[in-house]
Amino acid sequence: MDLSVYPPNAALDDGRLILGGCRVAEVADEFGTPAYLIDAAGLRARAVAFQEALTSRHPHSQVLFASKSFPTPSVMGLIADTGCGLDVAGLGELLAAERTGIDPSRVVLHGNAKSDAEIAKAIEMGVGYIVVDNLDDVVRISRLASEPVPVLLRVSPSVDAETNPAMATGHDTSKFGIPSHQIEDAIAQIRREPMLDLRGLHAHVGSQILNVDQFEQAIASLAKLERFDVYDVGGGLGIRYVPSDSAPTIDEYAERLVSAVHQHLGTDVELMIEPGRSMVGPNGITLYRVVTVKRGVRTHVAVDGGMGDNLEVSLYGQPFDPAIIDKSGRLEVCDVVGRHCESGDTFVTGHALVEPAVGDLLVIPATGAYTFTMSNNYNGALRPPVVFCEDGSARVAVRRETYEELLGRDLR
Ligand code: LLP
Repeated sequence: MDLSVYPPNAALDDGRLILGGCRVAEVADEFGTPAYLIDAAGLRARAVAFQEALTSRHPHSQVLFASKSFPTPSVMGLIADTGCGLDVAGLGELLAAERTGIDPSRVVLHGNAKSDAEIAKAIEMGVGYIVVDNLDDVVRISRLASEPVPVLLRVSPSVDAETNPAMATGHDTSKFGIPSHQIEDAIAQIRREPMLDLRGLHAHVGSQILNVDQFEQAIASLAKLERFDVYDVGGGLGIRYVPSDSAPTIDEYAERLVSAVHQHLGTDVELMIEPGRSMVGPNGITLYRVVTVKRGVRTHVAVDGGMGDNLEVSLYGQPFDPAIIDKSGRLEVCDVVGRHCESGDTFVTGHALVEPAVGDLLVIPATGAYTFTMSNNYNGALRPPVVFCEDGSARVAVRRETYEELLGRDLR
């Protein structure tokens, strides 16, 4: 079994998969499947690594975890406790941040369609910055604030991100931020509002970016504008999903990013980044049980989850590397499929698994980011629990949804 895209504290003990010192098969017995398993120590270490990589090169900097990639207080809090701030988009994530107990000055509010309620709550909490995405934000903040609110302006860096088009956000036709030809007017308009205190700029190129040049291009394009004290250059660093992938390390990323900031924006600015996927993605695995093996024209190995707990394949065609664990034997070429009622609910086709049989445990690594986030109830599936595995003990961070909760919102 190739563990190269597994979390750092994954190991094999006599052929059995261990995560954070816990036998994964025992975690399955105790908490059921499907389940999201997090290498808690690995995640904490990665949060520290991001901060060290940045602050060692640029002391006046802050790493904000992009909460959207795993928006639950347990995960956000674990990361915030290491010293990271939190980037939130929307009231739900803002309330989750509040629940972590983080100092609100380390929270940044995003959103391309912020409601009055979101802005009012952010002001009441005293978040560090509200990121203005559009001129209606300006009107709303002016109306709701009673003293000047520190804001950043999200601008288009005019970079065509080399990623899935659904995750590209740096181009001028994007729905996010102010397109380049309108930035100067927007800045002037914000400055006319006494309740907005414009401190700097924000730009986010896109997500799953593997070519670091693209971050440099965004920073160079920010330098074409007037200088500010604060720059938040967003998230987006890509990760490895399958063993044949390669991705920049945190240090390579930080080195290139900070060099570009120093070259184009100066050495005395406040610098922020917002990693989501690259923070939590490599530290999560999803655990399933094989429900049926159908040997027909192809061999379909169906598990007890699927696009209800992982939309990455259906939405973006993301390749994954599932493996049957704790088993040795002959390899068989299979299609790994989910339990949902559409053919698109397929994790991977033509993939070698060890003699799949009903009841086997199947793990998909590199599923820490955006899986929990976009989990859903397709076919009445219950959203899976999140289990932290650390130092040989497994504890539930988010419990499994119940059928009472599933049906409880319907008033019949
Ligand atoms: N900052 C902003 C303003 C963002 O919009 C995003 C992601 C991030 C930071 C974090 O980016 P990351 O480091 O995670 O790449 N639903 C998709 C991902 C969409 C990302 C949206 N914005 C998925 O499942 O892969």
